[in-house]
Amino acid sequence: MKSIHKFMSDSLALRKENNSLRTLKAESSLLDFCSNDYLGFARSNNLKLLFESELKKHPNYNMGSGGSRLLAGNSTFAEELEQEIANFHHSEAALLFNSGYDANIGIFSSITQRGDTIITDEYIHASIIDGVRLSHATRYVFKHNDLESLEQKLKVSKGKIFIVVESIYSMDGDQAPLIDLSHLAKQYDAALIVDEAHATGVFGELGRGLVYDLGLCDQVFARIITFGKALGTHGAAILGTEQLRSFLINFSRSFIYTTAASFLSHLAIKCAYQQLKNSDYQSPLKERIKCFRESISADINLLNSQSAIQIILIPGNKEAREAALNIQNAGFDVRAILSPTVAQGTERIRICLHNHNSIADIQRLSHNLNDIIK
Ligand SMILES: Cc1ncc(COP(=O)(O)O)c(C=O)c1O
Repeated sequence: MKSIHKFMSDSLALRKENNSLRTLKAESSLLDFCSNDYLGFARSNNLKLLFESELKKHPNYNMGSGGSRLLAGNSTFAEELEQEIANFHHSEAALLFNSGYDANIGIFSSITQRGDTIITDEYIHASIIDGVRLSHATRYVFKHNDLESLEQKLKVSKGKIFIVVESIYSMDGDQAPLIDLSHLAKQYDAALIVDEAHATGVFGELGRGLVYDLGLCDQVFARIITFGKALGTHGAAILGTEQLRSFLINFSRSFIYTTAASFLSHLAIKCAYQQLKNSDYQSPLKERIKCFRESISADINLLNSQSAIQIILIPGNKEAREAALNIQNAGFDVRAILSPTVAQGTERIRICLHNHNSIADIQRLSHNLNDIIK
């Protein structure tokens, strides 16, 4: 036991020394420039009212699902919700997962065999890396959004080949060049998989995603969409063919060996989609993104991003943390993203914009950023 305690205390001490110790913070009273609640759905009174009125139609609901989807946990409600989600995103089928993390673990650990190749962008989300680690495939990494670097990897790839990208990168906010990627995938007979966690609800007509917006639904082998960000609820789905859905039901361990989400979770997702279809929530967000970018001064290292995720590079854990603290002291909840979450030298402040941020608040935040970060 002594050696375990020593391992833990040494690891934590090292984190402290590097200024990278993670701690949990309870909810904050600062203005939200941090959450993934891009459309304000998680705090939407209208959505709560819709949920409560829909719930009244199901007085006999169970609190829990009672088991995995393959045993006692399935329902007509979940299957109908999947079809509704598939239709909305112009996909043949959808399969629900309990989170985006589970969805990525589930698809990448099951879809490959020894001898296959998964090629990922270097900035890909940790859940994809973990899914690939659970597979027997060879993993190659290509330089961020660099098609030449990808093609070099494609030329030496063996077996079934998968190219994996995020349509909007979670730590940079920029877009993958999806059209070019789909051409390369076709040329090398590779399957393109796109994680749309940060594009769902934000891009495309009514928030159908960037893959839909670019007319690539039929070119993409699978899309991962999540409900914990713009949809304001929790959970995820993998979009693809009926064959892929059936494959995942049979082989994806994070789908098979876990208790299905409850009826309440599924109802919340259904209501969030209902709300999404009712109005154009994307234009007000676009207006806020434009306003923020226009009001940041030119000498600040603001990365190029048309998404709700805006990044200011402030190299150094100590420097990024101090800058974030100063902005927080001015009343704005922004967070520093430190190494090892991002590469050393690319530490940053990550600012998330939302429909519940007023234009005046965004301008005040920009003025503070302009003053504090020089
Ligand atoms: C790109 C990406 N994929 C997947 C996930 C995981 O989704 P979830 O939070 O639903 O587990 C996240 C969330 O951080 C993400 O940013």
